[in-house]
Amino acid sequence: MRKPIIAGNWKMHKTVAESVELVNGLKASLGNVSPQDIGVVVAPVYTSLYPVYEVIRDHWIKLSAQNLFWEEKGAYTGEISPAMLKDCGCSYCIIGHSERRQYFGETDESVNKKIRAALHFGLLPIVCVGESLEQREKGTTFQVIEKQIRGGFTDISPLQMQKVILAYEPIWAIGTGRTATPEQANEVHAFIRNLISQIFEPQTSDELCIQYGGSVKPDNTESLMKQPDIDGALVGGASLKADSFASIVMGTLQAYGKA
Ligand code: PGA
Repeated sequence: MRKPIIAGNWKMHKTVAESVELVNGLKASLGNVSPQDIGVVVAPVYTSLYPVYEVIRDHWIKLSAQNLFWEEKGAYTGEISPAMLKDCGCSYCIIGHSERRQYFGETDESVNKKIRAALHFGLLPIVCVGESLEQREKGTTFQVIEKQIRGGFTDISPLQMQKVILAYEPIWAIGTGRTATPEQANEVHAFIRNLISQIFEPQTSDELCIQYGGSVKPDNTESLMKQPDIDGALVGGASLKADSFASIVMGTLQAYGKA
């Protein structure tokens, strides 16, 4: 059985002090949880990465960034490299979130460069894919996802793919309170897993962690996580409070029969 991973995407929220308070609260709430059963990741803003790392450096909660630039260093004002993120204590980096595609011009090509750079420097990518409402209504969801995956994972080896987490996040469900039904989500997850087995190999796709994201809340967690191809969640709004994020972790453990 694949181990579920729950990641909290804090987006552009929280000062340093607020971030430290949140991660301390989370640590306290997860006191009885075993890291054998579940992985937990938090993705604060850049300015809070190192202060949060100091709180969790001896804990099993892992740190993620929300973005990176693919060059190692140089004259790229305002950008942060994978090596710098490693230096701050990051184990993961979210790549290709729909907000970055939508507001910051990310393309499958830039996503591919970022995935390759992350892997080169030993950061584990959490790669986001997902369709818009218009695309879903037009019936092109699978084509959209396939294009994002084929483009994003160009020139990635099966060995490298073993380090990747995929997050399926239908854009129409992000921050809207409108979640995909467990069946709707699982249908796309199964499609992704099948596609990965064609591009890479069956073993890679069997082991791949595919998270669902889009208005995941404590009260819908268990039904989503019970689906056979959903292996965790990428949580935005509900990750900004320790108690709701911890409830999502608990709901996942329940769905996996570990609580
Ligand atoms: P949401 O965000 O949980 O607030 O919908 C999810 C995400 O964008 O990762």
